[in-house]
Amino acid sequence: MKVGVLPGDGVGPEVTAQAVKVLRAVEHRFGHTFDLTTMPVGWAAIDEFGEPLPEATRQACRASDAVFLGAVGLPDRDGTLPHEERPERAALLVLREGNFANLRPIWLPPCMSAPGWPPVDILIFRELNSGIYMGGARGRRTVDGVVEAFDTMRYSVPEIERIAHMAFQAARSRGKRVCSVDKANILATSVLWRETVEAVAADYPDVSLRHQLADSATTLLVQKPEQFDVVLTGNLFGDILSDLCGVLVGSLGMLPSASIGAKVGLFEPIHGTAPDIMGRDVANPVAAILTMGMLLGHGLGLSQEADAVRAAVLGVLEDGYRTVDVMAPGCTQVGTSQFGDLVVQELEAGGGG
Ligand code: NAD
Ligand code: IPM
Ligand code: MN
Repeated sequence: MKVGVLPGDGVGPEVTAQAVKVLRAVEHRFGHTFDLTTMPVGWAAIDEFGEPLPEATRQACRASDAVFLGAVGLPDRDGTLPHEERPERAALLVLREGNFANLRPIWLPPCMSAPGWPPVDILIFRELNSGIYMGGARGRRTVDGVVEAFDTMRYSVPEIERIAHMAFQAARSRGKRVCSVDKANILATSVLWRETVEAVAADYPDVSLRHQLADSATTLLVQKPEQFDVVLTGNLFGDILSDLCGVLVGSLGMLPSASIGAKVGLFEPIHGTAPDIMGRDVANPVAAILTMGMLLGHGLGLSQEADAVRAAVLGVLEDGYRTVDVMAPGCTQVGTSQFGDLVVQELEAGGGG
């Protein structure tokens, strides 16, 4: 099985190294052979090859069964390149092509909860190939001597239907509740979104559907996370709501994601390059390691191995090890690399299922 590995920028390489260690431990424990190809992307690729997504990287991704991506983008360097040529658009969005469903599980391990805290186990389905990110017309113009800029929010019925079906199907194997988040009180795209989701829901009479406006959804997610099971939403709202959910689990460094739909899935932690903490061995690798777990499950069809990775992470957390971002009284603080080693040890000891 071929796995493309794109470490990228900032803390990307630091957390990717831990996820790769864990993949190697899975390989060893379950007797697989993973053929890993590590390729440059982002500013790392610009520095080496003059472009954020070199053809060799694209080809390696096409030839892979699944691709792991650390993170790309360095805000300090943004001013040196036109917007369209920066890694976020010229690499990340290109790599996501065809992977229209971005699954973002928001899960608070019980050992990180506190008495009186609600359980947090939400699965966000974020539409990833359309909406305002891709809507078509965008740019700058001068009208009557005034400079303005514009983006276009656009959704088609088939684009909404395909992600809605995935969300309803996932809800069937979970809590059987879908909450669709939109701004149907103001946006034309959201009115169509709501109508289309309602129509899809008719195929799933065993799953309940409710709608929530995006603004009030933020408060509800924080105040009553236990009310949510599957959250179905568009590209921009899904981006923002999932980072908000970082608060529910203590850190963005806890949240993995899977971008699927194309022949080759892209597996990426939710967080970015975290330039404020890069190079100090303090980044939380849990998001990246859980992302590798999702790659095993969704990307390679190895569900037992995926479960083992999740259980091994849980084991290390239950043993009280924490990176600084989620450090708590009575726990032992460790660095990025040591946390990765502990997950490997847990897997090698036969923990994790
Ligand atoms: P960010 O996610 O990089 O960081 C936000 C905050 O969360 C920072 O305080 C950071 O230290 C913290 N954080 C993030 N990951 C962490 C981890 N693993 N452990 C502990 N703390 C962590 O978001 P930002 O600062 O808005 O963006 C920085 C750059 O990353 C930008 O260039 C942005 O475009 C890019 N970005 C890339 C991706 C991606 O490649 N998938 C995703 C998001 C942002
Ligand atoms: C994410 C990121 C990206 C997004 C950026 C870097 C384009 O924030 O993966 O959450 O908005 O999709
Ligand atoms: Mn984001």
